[in-house]
Amino acid sequence: MTAFDRQLETRITELVALVRSSRYLVAFSGAGISTESGIPDFRGPQGIWTKMRPIELQDFLQDPTARREYWRRKIESYPQMLDAEPNAGHRALARLFEAGLLKTMITQNIDGLHQKAGIPEDRVIELHGSNAYIACLECRKRFEWEEVLPFFARHPASAGECPRCDDCGGWLKPATISFGQAMPEEETRRAFSEAGKADLLITVGTSLLVYPAAGIPGETRRHGGKVVIINNQPTGLDHEAQIFIQGSAGEVLSNVVDRSVGNSHRI
Ligand code: APR
Repeated sequence: MTAFDRQLETRITELVALVRSSRYLVAFSGAGISTESGIPDFRGPQGIWTKMRPIELQDFLQDPTARREYWRRKIESYPQMLDAEPNAGHRALARLFEAGLLKTMITQNIDGLHQKAGIPEDRVIELHGSNAYIACLECRKRFEWEEVLPFFARHPASAGECPRCDDCGGWLKPATISFGQAMPEEETRRAFSEAGKADLLITVGTSLLVYPAAGIPGETRRHGGKVVIINNQPTGLDHEAQIFIQGSAGEVLSNVVDRSVGNSHRI
């Protein structure tokens, strides 16, 4: 065993003890938990924002070229997200929920994989919305992908057009939160309230660089709870963590959960 392995082992053992003695455990995930399902993250070495710039809401609203480019990216990446399956990390968190230890899952992810792994919809708080459907930016009317995709087959990219709401004429956009777009009020309120209740918050696969989401660990600490960070590289808030575990989300979480609740009822 190398010194690194020994340190990892010690930290995992400490985390298992914290998980077992926790009364209100909340987990907080970012894109890094889904890379093992084949969905790229944003700021890792192969991250999306290392290859292209985000399209902010203002540009989507004001610039037809940016709007069409936004949709082009979404249409390109959507099938991959639709087909993705939960990985060992999502499944470990679902087992922790089944065992009654995990109370709430807060996620910045838009891929729905925590729910697909078995955590009930009403215990997953999607802070940055969902890619599962499309919404009107004005009246929030919901549209399914199958309803909207034919628009693009009818309107070639060269025409630069984008779909509008058939009720109010507002622009349609996948129901995710872009930079410059207001956070969903109810989800944000619930996420901070759950983080405040947590005696233990485990953050996993997030660089903790994007606010207000990155304020979640601070909310737990302000109320006297402990924060543990699992990530494969340093994050913006390692100094605030009781324990920082550097490693793969899937490996670390399955190890921790096997030792916290046993692996007899793996799902
Ligand atoms: N195991 C552990 N950590 C991983 C793994 C893995 N298998 N894969 C990637 N990571 C790490 C990356 O190294 C990175 O530090 O996960 C982190 C993911 O960070 P980001 O890419 O910044 O993703 P996230 O924190 O979710 O981003 C926040 O930024 O652009 C927006 O709206 C988007 O919700 C997103 C927000």
